Amino acid sequence: MKNIAVIGAGTMGNGIAHTFAQFNYNVHLIDISEAALQKGVTTITKNLDRMLAKEKISEADKTTTLNNITTFTAIKDSVKNMDLVVEAATENVALKSKIFKELDAICDAKTILATNTSSISITQIAAVTKRPEKVIGMHFMNPVPIMKLVEIIRGYNTTDEVMSEIVALSKKISKIPVEVNDYPGFVANRILMPMINESIETLYNGVAGVTEIDTVMKLGMAHPMGPLQLADFIGLDVCLSILNVMYDGFKNPKYAPCPLLVNMVNAGKLGVKSGEGFYDYTVSRKAETVAKMFV
Ligand SMILES: NC(=O)c1ccc[n+]([C@@H]2O[C@H](COP(=O)([O-])OP(=O)(O)OC[C@H]3O[C@@H](n4cnc5c(N)ncnc54)[C@H](O)[C@@H]3O)[C@@H](O)[C@H]2O)c1
Repeated sequence: MKNIAVIGAGTMGNGIAHTFAQFNYNVHLIDISEAALQKGVTTITKNLDRMLAKEKISEADKTTTLNNITTFTAIKDSVKNMDLVVEAATENVALKSKIFKELDAICDAKTILATNTSSISITQIAAVTKRPEKVIGMHFMNPVPIMKLVEIIRGYNTTDEVMSEIVALSKKISKIPVEVNDYPGFVANRILMPMINESIETLYNGVAGVTEIDTVMKLGMAHPMGPLQLADFIGLDVCLSILNVMYDGFKNPKYAPCPLLVNMVNAGKLGVKSGEGFYDYTVSRKAETVAKMFV
């Protein structure tokens, strides 16, 4: 494998592109939004600068990594001759189905199509293509350049060959792949999201405040950050969407999203990316946020 396309330059897409480029893969980064591409490259540059300051990479590594990335605003001309496409666009079944149909029509027959979806069925996404045996889940964790885990999800038709290629590739970029089967939420979010949802219920029921809930989980369970802060980092819209996929998939009320989460998403309070979620991330109240986060 040498040529890798990444669809979506948001939180996950820019991290995935950064990681492959740092390991010297030729990366095509594609987003429908030019602004998202620019923001993605700025984020990659900032993250490389941080690594440089910590002497984890050299100036030459930074230059090579950035030179390995080319940006595009359309799938059409950018996914030919690719060995792998990793889709990291917005978490939405209809959108992902549309993207996979287009990829299947344009990509070479050899190209493996991976999705970074947090919860949507790999089998369902694969079904819109004529190559379901070459479709796989490659679930990176945020922030991608730092987090070691990649959950590798086998769709109903994914072949052993494709599984082994993706496992080997994950090891080459210094990640630790874990193989799982294709059920809603896979492993990571099936366990994480009910905890986040329950912490929102705890807040909603007035049992304790935001800081208190996060402090209990940080100090009591040795979690590096509290569940409400983690939800802000993931994005409250992403959390809601994952819970809905599990609720629909299992038809079990234990996955029903808390009404407070639904209300916050409807109000545009999406966490870090919108400037406010359970905490305030706007510049004017930065000191207050920091104080809250490190209690
Ligand atoms: N945020 C997390 O912590 C996290 C962790 C693991 C997996 N994921 C998954 O990764 C995927 C991306 O999530 P994110 O948090 O990076 O979202 P995001 O909202 O930060 O970025 C999504 C990007 O996709 C782009 N996009 C939308 N439609 C497109 C199209 N047709 N073609 C190309 N680009 C398109 C948008 O312009 C946006 O820049 C989702 O499936 C999500 O579930 C997210």
